[in-house]
Amino acid sequence: MYELNDNEFQYISRKIYDYAKINLTEKKRSLVISRLSRRIRALGLTGFQEYIDYLETEEGQTVEFQLMVDALSTNYSLFFREPHHLDFLYDKILPESRQEPLNIWSAASSTGQEIYSILIKILEYQSANSKVIPCKLYASDISSQALTTASRGVYQRKDTAKIDDKILKKYFLSGTGSKNDSVKVKKDLIKKVHFFKLNLDDEIYHLPPMDIIFLRNVVIYFDKDTKIRLIDRLYNYLKPNGYLILGHSESLSGISDKFRVKGKTIYQRREL
Ligand SMILES: C[S@@+](CC[C@H](N)C(=O)[O-])C[C@H]1O[C@@H](n2cnc3c(N)ncnc32)[C@H](O)[C@@H]1O
Repeated sequence: MYELNDNEFQYISRKIYDYAKINLTEKKRSLVISRLSRRIRALGLTGFQEYIDYLETEEGQTVEFQLMVDALSTNYSLFFREPHHLDFLYDKILPESRQEPLNIWSAASSTGQEIYSILIKILEYQSANSKVIPCKLYASDISSQALTTASRGVYQRKDTAKIDDKILKKYFLSGTGSKNDSVKVKKDLIKKVHFFKLNLDDEIYHLPPMDIIFLRNVVIYFDKDTKIRLIDRLYNYLKPNGYLILGHSESLSGISDKFRVKGKTIYQRREL
C-alpha cells in the first residue's frame, strides 16, 4: 500500500466527483488507498504523486481515468436482491401490462445480477400465466469493467448459492472441469438485455420513456444536490405513472415530491 497525503486525496476525490458525482468522503480514504495502490503497482509507479502525474497525460486522461473509475466505483450486487421489488413487479406491474412493450431500465446495473433477476422474474411470470409480456430491457453503468462482467453473464458458483435449484437449472449453465467454480447465464437471456455505458450525471440520455427504472443502491453515493437533479431528470424519462425503484437505504424524502409512494422504496410518477 502507498501513502496518500491530503492534497493527493483531494485531487482524486475531486476528479471522481466532477465526473461521476461519487462523493468520496474522508471515510473512503482507506478504500482509495487500497484500490488505487493496485493500479499504481500494475503501472510500476512509485506512489500516488506519480499516479496523479500520469492521470494528467493523454493516456492517463482516457484509459487510466476509466480504470480509476472502475476501481473506485463500488460494484457490489446480488441476484434477487431486495426481493420485495421483484414481487411487486410480478404481482402488480406485470398483470397490469398492456400490449405495448414494457421498457425496464436497470440504471446502475453493476455486474448484471439485477437485470438478470428482473428478466428471470418476467420469464417465470410468462410461463406461469401462459402469457407473453413484450419487454425491452436496458442495463447501464458507469463502470466498463462491471458492464463487461454483466454482458458475459459469468458468475462464481457461490454467488448463485441462494438461487432456487429449479431456477438455476432453467436459466444458467453450470461450468465443468476447470470452470467448475462458475456458472453462466444462458445466451438467450443475455441477448434480451441491451447493456451500455451511461453516466447518470449526463444531462441527456438517449433512451425511450421507461415503465420502470431500477435505481437501486447508487444514489447513496451522491450528495443531496446531485440526487435532486438526477431524480428530476429521471422523472422525465418515465412514462406517465411509471415506477422508480430505489435501494433499501435510499428515499425520495426531501429530494422530490413528484412521486407517490407505492411500497417500500417503490415510487410512482405523479402526473402534475
Ligand atoms: C452498489 S452498485 C448497485 C448495483 C445494483 N443496482 C444493486 O442494487 O445491486 C452501484 C453501481 O452504481 C454505479 N455508479 C456509480 N456512479 C454512477 C454514475 N454517475 N452513473 C452511472 N452509474 C454509477 C457503480 O459503478 C456501481 O456499479
